[in-house]
Amino acid sequence: MNESVQMKIAVVVVAAGSGERLGHGVPKARVPLGGEPMLVHSLRGILASGVASQIAVAIPADDEILRGICGSLSAEAAGAQGPEIVVVDGGGTRAESVAAALAAIAPGTTAVLIHDAARPLTPVEVYHRVVKSLAAGALAVIPALAVVDTVKTVTPTAPGEPAVERVSGTPGRSQLRAIQTPQGFDLATLRRAHEGAAGMSAAEYAAITDDAMLVEALGEPVYVVHGSPHSLKITTPTDLLLAEAMLQGPLAPRWIEG
Ligand code: C5P
Repeated sequence: MNESVQMKIAVVVVAAGSGERLGHGVPKARVPLGGEPMLVHSLRGILASGVASQIAVAIPADDEILRGICGSLSAEAAGAQGPEIVVVDGGGTRAESVAAALAAIAPGTTAVLIHDAARPLTPVEVYHRVVKSLAAGALAVIPALAVVDTVKTVTPTAPGEPAVERVSGTPGRSQLRAIQTPQGFDLATLRRAHEGAAGMSAAEYAAITDDAMLVEALGEPVYVVHGSPHSLKITTPTDLLLAEAMLQGPLAPRWIEG
């Protein structure tokens, strides 16, 4: 892409989650999808997008299998004049895993995209939309989909009430978006945002579910581009079934917007 010629972009892949909700008994990034570990799909999608000059992958500490996967793809990418792939030990929370990867980003990098390894089928077009918006001057940009369900906020009830929770509000659906990754940032801005989180309590830190939240806390505008239904986050066995079907069905080939 033209935009990535002017910017030097690193892509951080957070792959250090346990994946307990998938119930495979191995870290989520190792769970097979279409016969290959999920992380392989995520990395191949990033390589196919052509936006990265470096990829930094946060994996569970001491996971030699994921380290080996990154090593093989790194050798493959080097042979094709592709980006360098570096591996770091992730942390106990997603935000800690991102912070560890940010520390490994090469000097001269101007922008960073943070991607969940748990979104293995993100089409290259989503990467391109995020990068285009960064190139147009956004300091932070995130992909999103309109929400189809009515969403409500709830509070726990007291003992003796007829159900465990009670509705406390109904935000207007037309203003709600489901947020995906890759989330793109000016690197200096994201570093500042993560430094701002340093004083948080452990509970606050664990509640950081994406990087844009930290940039919002700085008061900087966070822009939104169109995401993709293919970019689903694989969390439950149902998500995995859907992703398998997407790979085999008319939505293949992977990573291309359909
Ligand atoms: O837990 P959740 O599904 O929100 O995780 C989103 C992404 O963050 C996943 O790709 C997961 O591997 C990553 N993660 C991480 N380090 C953690 C927790 C989650 O890299 N400690």
